[in-house]
Amino acid sequence: MKPLVQRLGYMSVYATDPERVAEDTANNIGAREVGREGDSILMSSNQRHAEYIIHKGEANVHSVCGLEAVSPDAIDEVKRRVQAAGLEIVSDVPSRAAIQKSITFATSEGHVFEVHTPMPNDRPGRYAGPGLRPRAVDHVNFTAADPALWAHEMNASCGLLLSERTTGHEISWMRAADGRHHTVAVVKSDGAGLHHTSWEYHSFQDFKGLADALIPEDRRLVWGPGRHGAGDNLFLYFLNSADFLLECTAEMEIIHDDYMEPRVVDPGENLSNYKVVNQWGALPPIEWVDHFTGLAPESSHSA
Ligand SMILES: [Fe+2]
Repeated sequence: MKPLVQRLGYMSVYATDPERVAEDTANNIGAREVGREGDSILMSSNQRHAEYIIHKGEANVHSVCGLEAVSPDAIDEVKRRVQAAGLEIVSDVPSRAAIQKSITFATSEGHVFEVHTPMPNDRPGRYAGPGLRPRAVDHVNFTAADPALWAHEMNASCGLLLSERTTGHEISWMRAADGRHHTVAVVKSDGAGLHHTSWEYHSFQDFKGLADALIPEDRRLVWGPGRHGAGDNLFLYFLNSADFLLECTAEMEIIHDDYMEPRVVDPGENLSNYKVVNQWGALPPIEWVDHFTGLAPESSHSA
């Protein structure tokens, strides 16, 4: 069965200081503000209407992850599957006027996903500002108390395919219809939350510009640069102004076989197997391993 989701659509967060997050996202990630709706700031790094949405909130927490459906009909199928799986449907009204059709549901641990028709490509592809340019928001890693159940629910609802997992289900990586090794992943934790959000860049050279831009702000990298084993992608991690963990990535593996048996890898004690976590050898610091961003309360979900 092919995935019902093509790729990541957007990410939305709450932040106590949206202006500062937007400024940081522009200066250090290279996306730009494309509009405002109420007290929400819309950002994009390409022609898409919005791919990073920052709401004003009481805390710095994750809100909704948008997933682009492969077709409008696929959204009906996701709705049917969500109901069959006994998961909660949060809304069947699109979160934004720019989205024609969607279904929003929650996993059993409370991660909220909006499976939607693509945002229109109504923004200019080129824009002024700092020279760094990501291609798009690429993938998201969540945390869950029961990551095996989480992966099962994402497969049952959206048809996302398990590309790889660790022996004890500590981490699972799942792919969408575009074949990228992972569009969503999940890490075992004490609770449901967000671990990191990843922006894709054109080349490793971009990482240098990003890291250098942090120097005058007295900020430092959390981990990397390196090359993950799972996904074979280049990586660099840092915290943004609201302590969201961001990854810059490039060269993600593409898997063309929808029927590939999921790979099972041994992560080693405390992620010590460098062949899985970083083929270049440097293991993740505890700051990376323990990172956790909470979820917005059920009542406040807005995309
Ligand atoms: Fe990642």
